[in-house]
Order: sequence, then structure tokens, then C-alpha cells
Amino acid sequence: MEAFIHGLPKAELHLHIEGTLEPELMFDLAKRNGIKLAYPSVEAVRQAYQFSNLQDFLDIYYAGAAVLQTEQDFYDLTWAYLQKAHSQTVRHTEIFFDPQTHTARGIPFSTVINGIHRALQDAHQQMGITSQLILCFLRHLSAEEAMRTLEEALPYNAWIAGVGLDSSEKGHPPSKFVDVFQRARQEGWRIVAHAGEEGPAQYVWEALDLLGVQRIDHGVRSTDDPRLIDRLVREGVALTVCPLSNIKLRVFDRMEHHNLKTMLEQGVRVTINSDDPAYFGGYMDENFTAAQQALGLNKDQLGQISRNAFEASFVSEARRKELM
Ligand code: HPA
Ligand code: ZN
Repeated sequence: MEAFIHGLPKAELHLHIEGTLEPELMFDLAKRNGIKLAYPSVEAVRQAYQFSNLQDFLDIYYAGAAVLQTEQDFYDLTWAYLQKAHSQTVRHTEIFFDPQTHTARGIPFSTVINGIHRALQDAHQQMGITSQLILCFLRHLSAEEAMRTLEEALPYNAWIAGVGLDSSEKGHPPSKFVDVFQRARQEGWRIVAHAGEEGPAQYVWEALDLLGVQRIDHGVRSTDDPRLIDRLVREGVALTVCPLSNIKLRVFDRMEHHNLKTMLEQGVRVTINSDDPAYFGGYMDENFTAAQQALGLNKDQLGQISRNAFEASFVSEARRKELM
């Protein structure tokens, strides 16, 4: 089964590039940039990755991102992820980045996106892996700050496929960002949003009805509302589910209790993704394997999950046919 999973052509649709920062690279970049880390060793950093909820994780994740300073740092981060993804038969990846995490520290938007974009191009040329970029707004910040970030991104329109919404979910509903997402739609960007990870099913309705999302990131709380599940099935809305993330952040107490198989059997377009692999203990193969083992997914179901991702991806029809 592990060999089957490894060989399965995969598309990753929920991956935060800042969440691929492995402790080893964190130390290398800290040294290169003359930054003193709060931890004495790589092992101590890994030890600190014990979370009891989303906010616990976000505090450490934003602190870790401070080692990213130069265009080369963003290049190295992205390149390392793409090599790892390629080694796990990921053929296509749609990558989130959080510009506000960096611009708030005085790092120019251009530094961030130039480094990431150059790595995406090199990976396509050298490994054949294709990618898209999705700019995420930090929902714990204001709608005005999100709009300013959108405006900063406009000159890079051609490099950005869509926009999303991440960070602390509770108390920051999609409705807070209606104007920003309306503008993003006018600019021709695709729309996604994190919803129903820790927040209620109501936030999934809002993401659909108020933001006009084409996919829901996480969305696991949707099963609290049978009417919502009916809608997701009827409209073929994909959920980008992240099994190891959900366990690490205690959205489910154990993998055996994860609802992804239930939703798959209800006809929801479930996909499997790694979210923040450096923090949650695994990339695509490890996420597929953990879910398969705990839930007893069969090969047909794994194949369905993989096809769901290619079908829900933002690639052209022509590229989709090549990929699948
Ligand atoms: N949820 C919200 N914000 C995030 C996540 C997540 O899973 N990963 C990185 N930022
Ligand atoms: Zn996420």
C-alpha cells in the first residue's frame, strides 16, 4: 500500500510555503542572516512543535518565518519543498504564501514573490513539476490591510493564480473580507478560503456565498451540518483536507476518528494535502499513508482522492489531461 501511495500521481492543493521550513533550513538561514534563534538546536525546535490548537501552532510558525530575509532565502525554501514534492510523485502543486507575514517585518513584497517564482520556474524546467501561486490574506489582520496587500500584488498578477484566507479562524469569519474578495474576483483571480477547520460550518457557508470560493481549505467541520454536505456534493465543491495537520492541531483526537472517509463516501470531493509539512510531521506520502492506515482506505478510494485533486486544481484542461 505504501508503494501504491508513493507511485500514485498526486496534486497538492493546500500547502503553505512558510510551513515547509524544516528546522535544519531554519538554522542555516538564521546563521546566514545573523539571526539568533530562541532554540539551541534543531532537536529543540522539533521538541517545541507540540500544539494544542491552531493558535499555538501559528505563534511558532510566524516566529520561525523571521529567518526568511532575502530573495535567495525564499528561493531556497521553495526549492527544497519542490524537490521533496517531486520525490513523492507530486506532479502539480498550488502553493499558498502569506505576504503580510513578511511585509510586516519590512521585507518587500517583491523579495518574497521573486524568490518563490524563480524556484517554481526552475523546478518546472528541471523536474517537470507544475505549480500555481495563491496569495493568502491573514484573517487576524484587518480587511483594510488585506486590501493594501491585494494592491501590492497587482503588478504580479501574471504570477498569481488566486487568493485565499488563512491564520486564526475563530472570530474572523469570511464576512469580514467580502470587499477584498469581490475586488480579487474583479481582478480575475481564483478564490479559495480556509473555513471549517476550527471555525463552524457557518464559515463554510459564508466562504461559498459571500466570498465565492471555488474550493474550501479544510472544511472538515462541514459534517456538523447535513444541508451543507448536500450542497458540497451537489455543487462538486472540493475540500482540501490535511489529515496530519488536523491531528497535530487537535481538530480530531485521533486519525481513526477523522471524517474524510465518511465525506468521501457521501460523495464530497475530498483531497489529501500536507498544509505545513515541516510542522505537522509529513508531506504528501505521509498524509496519504496515515489516513489510509487509520481509516482503511482502499486503492479505488486513494485513486479517487488523487483524481479529485487534479480535477479541482486550477490547471488548464490540456495540462490536466497530461497530468492524470
Ligand atoms: N490554518 C490556518 N492558517 C494557517 C494554516 C492552517 O491550517 N496553516 C498555515 N496558516
Ligand atoms: Zn492551511
